[in-house]
Amino acid sequence: MINKRALFLNHVGQTSTFPLQLEVEKAEGMYIYDTQGKAYLDFNSGISVSSLGHCHPKVVAAIEKQAKQYMHTMVYGEHIQDPQILYASLISKHLDPSFSTTYFLNGGSEAVEAGLKIARRYTRRYEIVAASGAYHGSTIGAESLRSDRDFTKTFMPGVPGIKHIEFNYVNDLNKITEKTAAVIMEPVQGESGVITPKANYLNLVCQRCKEVGALFLLDEIQTGFGRTGSLFAHQKYEVVPDMIFIGKAMGAGMPISGVISRNEIMASITENPALGHITTFGGHPVCLAAAHAGLEILVSTDLIMQVSEKETLIHELLSHEIIKEIRSSGLMMAVELTKRKYLKHVVAKAMELGVIIDYFLFNDRSFRLAPPLIVSEEELRQGCGLLLEAMDYAQEQYK
Ligand SMILES: Cc1ncc(COP(=O)(O)O)c(C=O)c1O
Repeated sequence: MINKRALFLNHVGQTSTFPLQLEVEKAEGMYIYDTQGKAYLDFNSGISVSSLGHCHPKVVAAIEKQAKQYMHTMVYGEHIQDPQILYASLISKHLDPSFSTTYFLNGGSEAVEAGLKIARRYTRRYEIVAASGAYHGSTIGAESLRSDRDFTKTFMPGVPGIKHIEFNYVNDLNKITEKTAAVIMEPVQGESGVITPKANYLNLVCQRCKEVGALFLLDEIQTGFGRTGSLFAHQKYEVVPDMIFIGKAMGAGMPISGVISRNEIMASITENPALGHITTFGGHPVCLAAAHAGLEILVSTDLIMQVSEKETLIHELLSHEIIKEIRSSGLMMAVELTKRKYLKHVVAKAMELGVIIDYFLFNDRSFRLAPPLIVSEEELRQGCGLLLEAMDYAQEQYK
């Protein structure tokens, strides 16, 4: 009998010395099942990806249909393919009319890279302003946007011309100047532990960008597709940036991402020189068929409208002595504990009890809660009950 764990440890690259090692057999709806038949309630959605749950039947059917018709035919936007045109036109109907054009890529970091290049080319400036505590991906350009020097110094030199301002700190906005090509931000900072924007902050950033001729880029990779209670967070916070990045939940479980902006801005990669950003697999028809099915579900059901009610219920259900606060924007939530040492016990015990939650990259006091939007009231009650049990357990470890 093959020992899958040994094969995994010996042959599959890992990013930490303590991988979860959940042996996945199948996943359906709210649940992931391991090879022993144990069901795990997924309260993490693979970090805000599986917002429609796992293997949604309409998404699977769209994938099957497209895979039988054609898969890869030609790279980067040369051929006219139904999945690309249907998706790009559908999403533009649900956005401000200025967001007319989508350029498709494969993953979030890649979309951010393309966006930075487009902004530099369009403005003919090179300085990029990012927010402290932001996360925009793992490629060298995206990593260079991180403010955490302890992490970035290990791969320096990064991309030059990047400076940081404090998120939510209006006095820093004068650091955005005529030299700035673009300001990039997450509308809600995810990896810092769900930091929401103060009232009107994003609009003030947007105004400052307009004053100095810089572009305002919003990274909606984690916040998009209903996660915060609106289709996109910039709609919830009532701001219209120059460009948005989408990914994660976009593909309803398939890898796909995009940069969306005005036609005239996107045109900067089409000439002088041509092929300003290219990708072999970006906009893959099978992934876009899945994305289209997913978007149709989101815009034709009341899943997004239910987000705020579910968010309130979680706040009510999760009451425990070791919870310091719960920060949230819709179903993008961080539960901060009173003591750092409780965290690993809560996450591990929850897993043992059959609920999947997760850590954040830059917040070691909080756990991440991001259930699929399809979660029912009953599943929320059941899952939160188990999380309370996991918190009791963590507390007991130090009595
Ligand atoms: C806000 C944000 N931007 C970019 C990324 C990078 O996306 P990917 O991992 O698909 O490259 C992430 C991933 O967590 C993210 O949360």
